[in-house]
Amino acid sequence: CGIVGYVGSRPAVDVIMGGLRRLEYRGYDSGGVALVTADGIASAKKAGKLVNLDDVLQESPLPASTTGIGHTRWATHGAPNDVNAHPHLDASERIAVVHNGIIENFATLRDELEDAGYDFVSETDSETVAHLLHHELQTTPDVTEAFRAVCRRLEGAFTLVVADAQTPGRVLGARRNSPLVVGRGEGENFLGSDVAAFIEYTHTAIELGQDQVVEITADAVVVTDFDGQPVSTKEYTVDWDVSAAEKGGYDWFMLKEIHEQPQAIADTLLGRIGTDGRLQLDEMRLSDGELREVDKIIVIACGTSYYAGMVAKYAIEHWTRIPCEVELASEFRYRDPILDHTTLVVSISQSGETMDTLMAIRYAREQRARVLSICNTNGSTIPRESDAVIYTHAGPEIAVASTKGFLSQVVACYLLALYFAQVKGAKYGDEIQLILDELGRTPQAVQQVLDNADQIRKLADRLSSNRSIMFLGRHVGYPVALEGALKLKELAYVHAEGFAAGELKHGPIAVIEDGVPVFVVVPPRARDQLQEKIVSNIQEVRARGARTIALVEEGDDTVVPYSDEVIRLPRVPTLLQPLVATVPLQLFACELATQLGHDVDQPRNLAKSVTVE
Ligand code: G6P
Repeated sequence: CGIVGYVGSRPAVDVIMGGLRRLEYRGYDSGGVALVTADGIASAKKAGKLVNLDDVLQESPLPASTTGIGHTRWATHGAPNDVNAHPHLDASERIAVVHNGIIENFATLRDELEDAGYDFVSETDSETVAHLLHHELQTTPDVTEAFRAVCRRLEGAFTLVVADAQTPGRVLGARRNSPLVVGRGEGENFLGSDVAAFIEYTHTAIELGQDQVVEITADAVVVTDFDGQPVSTKEYTVDWDVSAAEKGGYDWFMLKEIHEQPQAIADTLLGRIGTDGRLQLDEMRLSDGELREVDKIIVIACGTSYYAGMVAKYAIEHWTRIPCEVELASEFRYRDPILDHTTLVVSISQSGETMDTLMAIRYAREQRARVLSICNTNGSTIPRESDAVIYTHAGPEIAVASTKGFLSQVVACYLLALYFAQVKGAKYGDEIQLILDELGRTPQAVQQVLDNADQIRKLADRLSSNRSIMFLGRHVGYPVALEGALKLKELAYVHAEGFAAGELKHGPIAVIEDGVPVFVVVPPRARDQLQEKIVSNIQEVRARGARTIALVEEGDDTVVPYSDEVIRLPRVPTLLQPLVATVPLQLFACELATQLGHDVDQPRNLAKSVTVE
C-alpha cells in the first residue's frame, strides 16, 4: 500500500524506512526494502509491522547505498507472510520490484514465464513483473525501455517501482489506476505513493498521469508514456508541513485529527466567496448553463465518504429541489444506472484514489454524465478525471478511520448544494447567505463539543465491556448513526449497527435486550414532528431494557426523562447537525478502542486507501 523510491546522496535505507513509516497510515501487513549496492541488489523484508523489518535491518544491516526502493504491502494475492512481502527479485537478483494494485493477467504471464523456465517463489501477482522484466532485458538491454515494454503487457491496476543492479543511481516507476507521485529535490529525487513519503525532504511534487513511466536519477526526472514518448508534467507545491504528518503530542493521529476538525471546517469554507459575491469551487470545467441543465444528481462514494453523501442528499434536495440519489460506488455501475449529460455524478473521496469510486466515475463519464468530485488530496486521480472539483482543505488525514475528512466532506456537500442553488437563481440568495453564516459558526460549535471530551471518555469507560452497541437517528441523524456505528466497528471491533429510528420497529428492535447501549441522535427541537417520533423510539427501546444515550441540543430537555445519559450538542440548523453530532461518536469509538488496547490509527484488516475493487 505504501511505496517509496529514492536516488540521491543520503543513506537510502534511512530515507526509505522514514518514508514507509509516514505511509504506515495507509494500512499494511508486511514491509520490505531493496538497495542497489556495489555487489548487486541487497534486500530485506518481513511480515507484520515495520518494527519487525527494523529488527531484521538491525540484526543484519544492508550494505551502504544511496539508491533504493521500499514497500508496505496490504495483501491481495497470497497471505501476508515474509515470502509474499515485497520487493520481489528475479532469480539472478538483478531486478527488484515493488507493486501496488492487481495485475489482472498475471496468471497468463506466469504460465508463459514458467514455460520459459522461470521459477516463482511467492504467491503474488507482483513477482511476475520481476521475471518479466528480466526476460525482456534479454532482448531490450536498456532497463527503462524494457520496463516500458513490460508495462505495455500488464493489465489491471498498478503502481510499480523498480531498481536494477546494473543501472545504479536510477529508479523507475510506472502507474495505471493506482497512485504514484514524484518528489523533486536538489541532487536527489523521490517516488512515493503520496507526498507524505518525502515531505521531510522536499515540498515540490510532480503529478504522474495515467499510463506513464518515470525515471529518476539524482539530478533528473524523465517522464514518458508507455511507448517512450515524452509527456509534459505538472509540478506543484505541497502546502502542508511535515508536522501535519506527525502526532503532535496526541496518542493517536486519529485523536489529533478529531481535534483538528474546527480548523478543517474553517479551511474548507475559506475563500469560497469570490469578488463578485458568488460561491466558487476549486476547479470548474462546466458552465452555469451546463449546470442549469442538470436534472438529477447521483452521489457515489465508499465507507465514511458514503455517509457524507447521504447527508448531501438531504441538503441538495432541500436547497436545490434537484432529485438526488446516493449510492455505494461499488454497486453503482453494476446496476445499469440511467445516466446522460443532464445527470451530475458527485463523487466523494478523501484520498481521491479509491478504486471503486474511480471506476464508478469513469463509467459515469462513458455514459456522458458530468462528474464533480469532492476530494481531500490534491493531484490524486479522481479529481484529475472529473469536470469539477471541490477540495476539502482538511490537510493530510493519516489515521485509517476518517474523521476530519468526513466533516470537511459534509461541509463541501453543503457548499455544493448552495452552489447549485446559486446557479439556479437569485431567489435562493438570502438563504445561501444565511446558511453560509451558520456554517461560519460551526468551527466554534465543533470546538464546544470537543471541550466536552471528558464526558465521552468516562462513558467509554463505563461501556467498554459491551459487545454490541446500537445507534439510531432520523433525517440527517440517520447517516450520523451509521457513521457512529462504522467508527466503532472499525476501531473497537465491537458489533455496532446504525438504524433509521423509524425502521426500528420493523425488525431491529428484536435484538434490543437488557443493558444494550443505544445512542440516539435527537433532531433539533425546531423539527418538532421529527422530535416527537424519536421520543417514541427512545421509549420503545428503553421499555425493552436498552441503556439510552441521547445526543441532544442544549436547552432541550424533552428526552431527558427517557435517557440514561445526555450528551449536549450546540444549537445549529437541522441540516448542519451532522457536523456537531458526529464528533462525540468519533471520540467515543477512539476512546473505547484505546481502552480495549487496539491500534486506533491502523485497525486490523483495513487500509486507508483501497486501490483494488
Ligand atoms: C477505506 C477507508 C475508509 C474510507 C473509505 C473511502 O475503506 O478505510 O475509512 O472511508 O476507504 O475512502 P475515500 O478515500 O474514497 O474517501
